[in-house]
Amino acid sequence: MTQRVLLLPGDGIGPEVVAQAERVVLAVAQLFDLPLSLDTANLGGVAIEAEGVAFPQTTREKALAADAILLGAVGGPRWDGLPASERPERGLLAIRSALDLFANLRPAILFPQLASASSLKAELVAGLDILIVRELTGGIYFGEPRGIAVREDGQREGYNTYRYSEGEIMRIARLAFELAGKREGKLTSVDKANVLEVTQLWREVVTGLGADYPEVALDHMYVDNAAMQLVRAPKQFDVLVTGNIFGDILSDTAAMLTGSIGMLPSASLNEQSKGLYEPVHGSAPDIAGQDRANPLATILSVAMMLRYSLNAAAAARAIEEAVATVLDQGLRTADIVDKGQSAVGTVAMGDAVIAALMSQKENS
Ligand code: IPM
Ligand code: MG
Repeated sequence: MTQRVLLLPGDGIGPEVVAQAERVVLAVAQLFDLPLSLDTANLGGVAIEAEGVAFPQTTREKALAADAILLGAVGGPRWDGLPASERPERGLLAIRSALDLFANLRPAILFPQLASASSLKAELVAGLDILIVRELTGGIYFGEPRGIAVREDGQREGYNTYRYSEGEIMRIARLAFELAGKREGKLTSVDKANVLEVTQLWREVVTGLGADYPEVALDHMYVDNAAMQLVRAPKQFDVLVTGNIFGDILSDTAAMLTGSIGMLPSASLNEQSKGLYEPVHGSAPDIAGQDRANPLATILSVAMMLRYSLNAAAAARAIEEAVATVLDQGLRTADIVDKGQSAVGTVAMGDAVIAALMSQKENS
């Protein structure tokens, strides 16, 4: 049966990196005989320009019908003047919510070929392989009431609401325990239970669920300490599970430990394993349209998509191997290039990955 993949190129460098990822999708579809169909829709700033809103109805319908979605990035300075409720980023939040993509998996893996790109000492990060499991459709990002209102004294006041139900905590924690069980069997739950009631409940629920997973070693960490430990001794972690806002912050920190946020893919899944896949990096408007962006995070997101939503693990592995091959060949985009070396562009990196895929197949 044909599986439907929806492409959402978005803004900034999004269209350039998605274009290379699309070539990779087409190549593996052919090499592995996968019946895939591709369609494209607008999300973010590009949707505001073309259709008036960041998450148009047409995009919603295509997204609901798709088996998997590949996103570039959204946002840019052009829309900075808009009120929060109309910005491109709201389109991303809206699609996460519409598809109930509650689980955001953000691996932070150090590619041995790039060890010198990390801002930390090589011995602290060599072999780093962390998975951040971030709750994505709740917490302070979505809690009501929210807004900016004028108080009685005439001052404006902004407010948001940080809330989680037991059910929301349970489903993300369960997934995190299961993923930890398939890895090193270590799960760290991150909260601020010393101050915030909502995360006091989080800690209670996660602890209770731990009884179902005796094979997983669970510990708890306050978020400030977790941020410190991530840059002090990151290899102590295996899987981290946390709420939406802490996960947003800690996943950028973890990404940077690997030297390039331009290398990291992510998956956002619902209970049916339908997913939205996107690079961890943003829209990088400063380099958009210059053939300088690193397409590897988006290409690696295709691998995650094949594995988690499209049941094509062999094709996923082939892509990951092809990426390792091009790194071994010494190809580097500007974000990961060593001083004094020359960088390749976005399209040339895409060409190299496709060539590596083709020669793998020939040699197999
Ligand atoms: C991310 C981004 C988004 C978030 C923004 C663009 C809304 O920072 O995916 O981490 O905060 O979730
Ligand atoms: Mg973020």
